[in-house]
This record gives sequence, structure tokens and C-alpha cells, in this order.
Amino acid sequence: MSESRLILALDVYERERALEIAECTAEYLWAIKINWPLIIGSGLKIITELKQVTGLPIIADVKLADIPNTNRLIARKVFEAGADYIIAHGFVGRDSVEAVMELGETIIVVEMSHPGAKEFIQPVTEGLIELANELESFGVIAPATRPERVEYIRSKLKPGIRVITPGVGAQGGKAEEVIRAGADYIIVGRSIYGSENPRESARRIFEEIEGVV
Ligand code: XMP
Repeated sequence: MSESRLILALDVYERERALEIAECTAEYLWAIKINWPLIIGSGLKIITELKQVTGLPIIADVKLADIPNTNRLIARKVFEAGADYIIAHGFVGRDSVEAVMELGETIIVVEMSHPGAKEFIQPVTEGLIELANELESFGVIAPATRPERVEYIRSKLKPGIRVITPGVGAQGGKAEEVIRAGADYIIVGRSIYGSENPRESARRIFEEIEGVV
């Protein structure tokens, strides 16, 4: 089996449910992304538990968007809890992002996947790509719902900066299409954890993108 390019967005509240879904899908994942629903529902300690159960990297999608000091205070606790990557907003400016990057691997949002992203974020995507290139972040978040934008963002990014794309499945993005457009990893939430058989759904998506270049 080749290395997976699938990231599970584990947006449930309950600890037991999260651990159960993580364990049964782990074989098909590269990493698990947690967001505020799971942190609020189960506490930051869920990060350690997920790592123990799956052995996978954990991405904390806390979308940090504050002044440098507050970003630093939050990021410190999240990295201390065992997160391997943090997702931060770039629109708050270089100093706020640098505060997170000083503490650990950071993924910068350059464009979001929902329709509203066209209002305020898409017009500044260019500058956010520049920021990611200058800071050489681990990766950027780009919208799986707009493969043409993924292709564009990839073309403007320095090689080596990963393109990570939420929006596959429930939001309409197609896994294979977005990988062909240049995504390194796809993020899938509801289509896996909300399905009748999360393991089977993860396997199907894994196989859909396995071998796609
Ligand atoms: P679904 O259920 O739609 O979950 O597959 C997607 C997950 O990814 C998050 N998400 C985003 N995060 N920029 C981000 O940083 C985005 O454009 C974006 N779109 C979706 C969402 O919160 C959920 O955890």
C-alpha cells in the first residue's frame, strides 16, 4: 500500500466516537485533523489519545487569527498537547503567523473552500501565497471545491510547500480531480465520519487517489 494522501477531519464532539472512527480508518490515512468541535467536546488531551490509538500525525485546525502574543499562547498549549501541525490564518499578518511558526510546523490558509470565501479571502490570496513562500511554511490550505484555484495556487508556490485541500465530498470537491490539480493531501470529514461505514468510506477515497499523479 502506498503512502496515503488522505486526511480525516474528525469533527465529532465525543471522545469515544472520535477514537473509534480514528482507529478503524487509520490504515487509510496520512493524518488526522481535529477542529474546535472535538477540542470543545473532548479537551486537548484527545490529541495524545488519538496519537496513541493510531500513531498518525495530528493537525490542529484551530485557525489561529489573533495578535502574535495570543497566537503564541494558544499555539504553545496545542503543540505541548502533541499536535504536529497547526493551521493558522495568514490575513492577520506576518508577525502573527511567525509567532506560531516559531513553535512548530504551520499550515497557512490562503483560500477557503466555502462560497463566502470569494467575498474577502479570494481577493487577497495572492498576498497570502507570497507570505507562505517567504516564510516557507509546511503547507497551505487551498479549496478542493475549486480545482482551478488549487492548480493556480500550486503554480505560484515554492516547490516543497504542501497544498492541503479541504472541501472534498460534503462540500462538493472531487478527490481525484483535486489531486490531479496539484493537491498533495485532501481533507475529508463528513463523507467519512458521517457515513454508515467510516472504514469503508475511507478505503474507497484512499483507493480513488492511490496512484493518481
Ligand atoms: P467536511 O465535512 O466538509 O470537513 O469534509 C472539512 C473540514 O475542513 C475544514 N475546512 C477548512 N479549513 N480552510 C480550512 O482551513 C478551508 O477552506 C476549509 N474548508 C473546510 C472544516 O472546518 C472541516 O473541519
